[in-house]
Amino acid sequence: MNKVSFILILGFASLVTACKSGVNHQTKSTASNNLLEERYKMLLDYPVDSMSMPRSMNIKTNEIRKVPSRDWTSGFFAGNLWHLYQLTGDSKYKEQAQKWTPFSKKESVNSNSHDVGFKVFCSFGEALKVENKKEYEAVIIKGAETLCTRFNPKVGSIRSWDFNKEIWDYPVIIDNMMNLELLFEASKLSGNPKYRDIAIQHANTTLKNQFREDNSCYHVIDYNPNTGEVRKKTTLQGFNDDSVWARGQGWAVYGFTMSYRYTKDPAYLKQAEATAKFFMTNKNLPEDGIPYWDLKDPAIPNSPRDVSAAMVMASGLYELYTYTNNKSYLAFADKLMASVQTEKYILDSKIKAPFLFDHSTGNWPKHDEIDEPIIYADYYFLEALLRKK
Ligand code: GLY
Repeated sequence: MNKVSFILILGFASLVTACKSGVNHQTKSTASNNLLEERYKMLLDYPVDSMSMPRSMNIKTNEIRKVPSRDWTSGFFAGNLWHLYQLTGDSKYKEQAQKWTPFSKKESVNSNSHDVGFKVFCSFGEALKVENKKEYEAVIIKGAETLCTRFNPKVGSIRSWDFNKEIWDYPVIIDNMMNLELLFEASKLSGNPKYRDIAIQHANTTLKNQFREDNSCYHVIDYNPNTGEVRKKTTLQGFNDDSVWARGQGWAVYGFTMSYRYTKDPAYLKQAEATAKFFMTNKNLPEDGIPYWDLKDPAIPNSPRDVSAAMVMASGLYELYTYTNNKSYLAFADKLMASVQTEKYILDSKIKAPFLFDHSTGNWPKHDEIDEPIIYADYYFLEALLRKK
C-alpha cells in the first residue's frame, strides 16, 4: 500500500468514529494523522546501537530505557519497523527492519524463559510476512525447539519463569499464550507436529485452570511439576491475586483467538469471546475504553491507564470479529483505536523518541514503567491498524 492510501485509511477510520460522536472530525483526524506520521518518522531517526533496543521512556527524566536481546521486549522495535513498512510501503522502514531483525536471533537458543516467542516471533515472524527467506524460517523453527524444552508433560504446560523459586514451583502466566504462535507457525513451516501438539496441550491446560467463573483470568498459576496439580492461583503484575490485570485480559483474548486460528477448536473461541465480553462490559472501564492498568485497582478513577492493554485487546478483537461476525468486537476495537489516535494519547511531538503513544503501565507493583510510552503498545497498535485494513 502506498503512503497516500495509508493516510486515507487512517483518516477514514478516524472520520467514522468522529461522525458517530458528532464532533468536527475532519480537522481533528487530520491533526492526529499528522501527529502520528511525525512519530513514525522518529523510529527512523532514532540512533539504535548494536547492543540494545529501545523499550520505554521516563517522560520526567527524558531517559530512554534500552534493553539487551534477552529482554522480553527486544523484538518489538524491528517488528514496528516491519509493520510500518507494510502500512506505508516506504522502503526506508524495510531497510531498518532488515537491519534490526537479527538483533534477537540469538534468543532463539536461549531457554531461560518462555519469552522466546515474543523475542523471536515479533521480529522474525513479521519479517517472514514480508520476505520469504529460509533464514527467517530457520530462526523461528529453532526458537520453537528451544521453547519446547520448557514443556513439562505432567503439567501439560510450558514453564514461564525460572525466578522466585522460593515462592513458585512451576509458574505459568497468561502471557505465555502469546508464545504459542511461534509453535503453531513452526509446525507449519517445518512439517513437524511436535510444536503444535505442545501448543495445544499448553492452551488446554490454560483453559482449564487460568480462568475465573466470570471469565476474567488469573495472571499466574503455580503447578506442582511432579503431579501437575495446581498449587496456587496468584499474580505478579496485578493489584492482588483476585484482581483483573488489564493486559492479562488482552493476552487471554488475543492468545485464544490466535489459537483458534490454527486449531479451529471451538472451546478456544468460546473462551476468547467470554473474556472479551467480560472486558468490554466491565463497570470500571473508563468512557474512552482505555483501561486502568488493573480493573480492580481501588484507586480507580485515579489510577494509571494502560494503552498497551487496550492495543493488545484491539488487535485481538479485530481477529475475533473475523471468526464470529459479531460487530460488537469490531465496534469496540474501533473505539479503542479512535481513542488512542488523539492528542491525549499520542506522544508529544516535542519528545524525540522512537515511540508513538504515552500512558502505558508496565509493572505497577514494582513501580516500574508507570504511565509511560512502552514499545509494545505501539507494536499492537500498528498490528491492529494492519488488521483493520
Ligand atoms: N509479558 C510481560 C508483560 O505483559 O508485562
